[in-house]
Amino acid sequence: MSSKYQNILILTGAGISAESGLATFRSSNGLWNNHRVEDVATIEGFQRNPALVHDFYNDLKKEIQKAKPNPAHLAITKLQKEYPAANISVVTQNVDTLHEKAGNKNVYHIHGQINQAVCLNCGHILETFGDVDTETICPHCEVMGMMKPNIVFFGENLLYMDKVEPLLRQCGLFISIGTSGVVYPAAGFVQTAKYYGADTIEFTLETTNNNYLFDKHVYGKAGETFPQYVEQLIKG
Ligand SMILES: NC(=O)c1ccc[n+]([C@@H]2O[C@H](COP(=O)([O-])OP(=O)(O)OC[C@H]3O[C@@H](n4cnc5c(N)ncnc54)[C@H](O)[C@@H]3O)[C@@H](O)[C@H]2O)c1
Ligand SMILES: [Zn+2]
Repeated sequence: MSSKYQNILILTGAGISAESGLATFRSSNGLWNNHRVEDVATIEGFQRNPALVHDFYNDLKKEIQKAKPNPAHLAITKLQKEYPAANISVVTQNVDTLHEKAGNKNVYHIHGQINQAVCLNCGHILETFGDVDTETICPHCEVMGMMKPNIVFFGENLLYMDKVEPLLRQCGLFISIGTSGVVYPAAGFVQTAKYYGADTIEFTLETTNNNYLFDKHVYGKAGETFPQYVEQLIKG
């Protein structure tokens, strides 16, 4: 691997937030905080029972608001401050806001974020850590009952891809932290980066689905392994 990179892209998944006490997606047989993924993370589930979906994300919002960033999130801030790269971006599949809490910059929430709701009537984005439900009135168009958590459900398009695609092509180093490589299209990002010439490294607890696309694998808790790697990168 080369010692200096102009552009670095860091892709993160639920595993980076595990040490902050937030449950990963597939930790127990497709359940996410004791709910079936189909019920709380699909458009059909939302249409079937919007109140249940709102309740789920309102609860998760409270849990996330209490959570604190861990050494892996903080190491990204350090890398962004101390590594002389032109551009270090964070593309996250996480809906939590721990990257922001840790002071990370250039963060793209491609699967949405918990502290936002989108109005299905006018497209307005409401930013709040408060509850949103089937009776919430859109502050922009003033229609009631049209707010959806701004979470990308299965089958919906990812957010910010116009920004992320050039970053994938430009990066000289692609780092993946805590993602199982199961959920597409994010699982395919490494392939694009590699095709355009990036070095690729992953930090994970268990073998990932797309592990053959990485040059290097670091197994262990990201809160322990990633800060060490950042020190090495900074030293050059
Ligand atoms: N914190 C969150 O915002 C959150 C939490 C759960 C799910 N989600 C959503 O779930 C989807 C799931 O895909 P995913 O790939 O992100 O998660 P995943 O649950 O499918 O995979 C987690 C990965 O992280 C690894 N891991 C677990 N603990 C780790 C640790 N301490 N250090 C390093 N690696 C660790 C696991 O080995 C696994 O490969 C995403 O689309 C995301 O939007 C988000
Ligand atoms: Zn509206």
